[in-house]
Amino acid sequence: MCGIVGYVGFKQASDILLEGLRRLEYRGYDSAGIAVSDAGEIAIRKKAGRVQELGKLVERNPVHGTIGIGHTRWATHGSPSDINSHPHVGGNGEVVLVHNGVIENYAVLKNHLQALGYVFRSSTDTEVAAHLVAHELSELIKMGEDPEDPKTAIKAVEVAIKQFKGTYGLGVLFRDFADMMVAARLGSPLVVGMGKGEFFLASDASPLSGHTQEVVYLSDHEMAVLTPQGMELHHRDTGLHAPNVQVLQQTSQESDLNGFEHYMLKEIFEQPETIENAMRGRLDEDEATAKFGGLNLTPQQLRRIDRIVLTGCGTSWHAGLVGEYLIEEFARIPTEVEYASELRYRNPPLSTTTMVFAITQSGETADTLAAMRECKRKGHPTLAICNVVGSSIAREADGGIFLHAGPEIGVASTKAFTSQVTVLTLLALYLGRLRNMSYPAGSRIISHLQAMPDAIRKTLECHEQVKEVARRYCENENFLYLGRLYNFPVALEGALKLKEISYIHAEGYPAAEMKHGPIALVDERTPSVFIAPRGHIYPKVMSNLEEIKARKGPVIAIACEGDAKIDQMADEVIYIPYVEEYLQPLVCSIPLQLLAYEIAVLRGCNVDRPRNLAKSVTVE
Ligand code: AGP
Repeated sequence: MCGIVGYVGFKQASDILLEGLRRLEYRGYDSAGIAVSDAGEIAIRKKAGRVQELGKLVERNPVHGTIGIGHTRWATHGSPSDINSHPHVGGNGEVVLVHNGVIENYAVLKNHLQALGYVFRSSTDTEVAAHLVAHELSELIKMGEDPEDPKTAIKAVEVAIKQFKGTYGLGVLFRDFADMMVAARLGSPLVVGMGKGEFFLASDASPLSGHTQEVVYLSDHEMAVLTPQGMELHHRDTGLHAPNVQVLQQTSQESDLNGFEHYMLKEIFEQPETIENAMRGRLDEDEATAKFGGLNLTPQQLRRIDRIVLTGCGTSWHAGLVGEYLIEEFARIPTEVEYASELRYRNPPLSTTTMVFAITQSGETADTLAAMRECKRKGHPTLAICNVVGSSIAREADGGIFLHAGPEIGVASTKAFTSQVTVLTLLALYLGRLRNMSYPAGSRIISHLQAMPDAIRKTLECHEQVKEVARRYCENENFLYLGRLYNFPVALEGALKLKEISYIHAEGYPAAEMKHGPIALVDERTPSVFIAPRGHIYPKVMSNLEEIKARKGPVIAIACEGDAKIDQMADEVIYIPYVEEYLQPLVCSIPLQLLAYEIAVLRGCNVDRPRNLAKSVTVE
């Protein structure tokens, strides 16, 4: 969470910082601030609320200078307020910094600094970092280090960060070294953009587009020292070293709204293409299987895998549940889905032939990264299913599969989910064909997959019908989402979408499990959304639906075109095209995404920036 930007160069920094913060706002939007270094002073502007508010403040009270840092916050320690906003000042203004992450031992450090006379204005962990760097700087000077040598300031950061327990991405300015910025990373992502006579710092590459395509991703325990003259990279263990410059492919148009009112809606409508992109070049019709460039394991090694663990958080965890059903069905490999936040601290008995997949859109989710590292440390092949190229998880995994879904800006994940499910289907097909799946069975799956982009296009035609349903139910305060087999994870995902963007309480359940408790919630004011497409479990789902109707619960059904029976029983039916059962999560999730979106819009919620949330959760 939290977004960091920085600029060192020859242009006015404030515009670049504000534009960068706008692009990073999806990472946190409680408060925002910038600091710009000018003629021996560091001017700070910061404010609770969105970057837009900060922009107005800077317009009224501009800052000038060609080196600066900025921050958009998702509060961890201390409520969202002007005073808790970053940047924070250390000492008597010698140090100003922005921070992403959590300094877990901040209370101990704070006590120590307070005892030394440092005065704290905010309740953040970050202010501890600012004072500690300032303190170490003055200690180094007292011990005889040259107060005019920038190396003294760099050393102060090194000494300070060694004392932190937790995670940090830092951008640091020094009042007395006005053309230098220091960036440091442990656990929270940072990327440096390389321009001509200028450098950009950011939490991810999105603020860099339009400025430069050449980037250097900082590793853990790495520090970058940026001045208009150049960049130096220091690693805690290996010292000074040359940068590994990578070239970004992303273009700025990818993050435009293209006429849609919100990113979420735009991303929902991108799904025919994103699903196609997830399959592009990966279907091998001759061999009736899928192929991947980046698994970095031979078919022989993969043949020896006898257990798979899929791990992730939120929507990615839901995609993992679909993956479990697919892999067990197609490849008969026992598969488990673990919440990454649990897996990282559990000690499950994983055999030497267990393969672990971390599923993540952002590639930066702290729990998923930690779970992956823990499995890797134990020697398991650890692969990533990830959207963001260059992200921490993508870089640290032994191999993996990219989603190629393009940037997902809306906080509620939509296209990443269907891309994850598509990739997991390909993976299940590939693993199945390495084992007992026949050639004709593989061929059938390929032809069904090839038909999916059109099926999604057709499904999106339900939008107008969904709007009607949303109008009728947007006032309700509780919803149940019910589905079975492949559509159980879809129920969970539908409920999560509604919760996160419209703040309505919603629960997803296996449809039959509902009678073991949640049925007590059913009354005239609690609609149940039934995911009931045609399939071998359809009659059972219909019995569950009758149980709800018998208790006067309104029913919104997602059903296949031509299903006259359900039309008689449900209060509302949203029709979707029929696809094979194992592909139904792809089509069934679309009306649920649209339903959550339309209800949130009708309730006046901020769809792309829901309260309390952030796009990538880079803290525990
Ligand atoms: C999805 O709508 C959520 N915003 C959230 O659950 C998300 O899926 C989760 O935080 C995991 O993110 P990741 O895929 O980037 O790891």
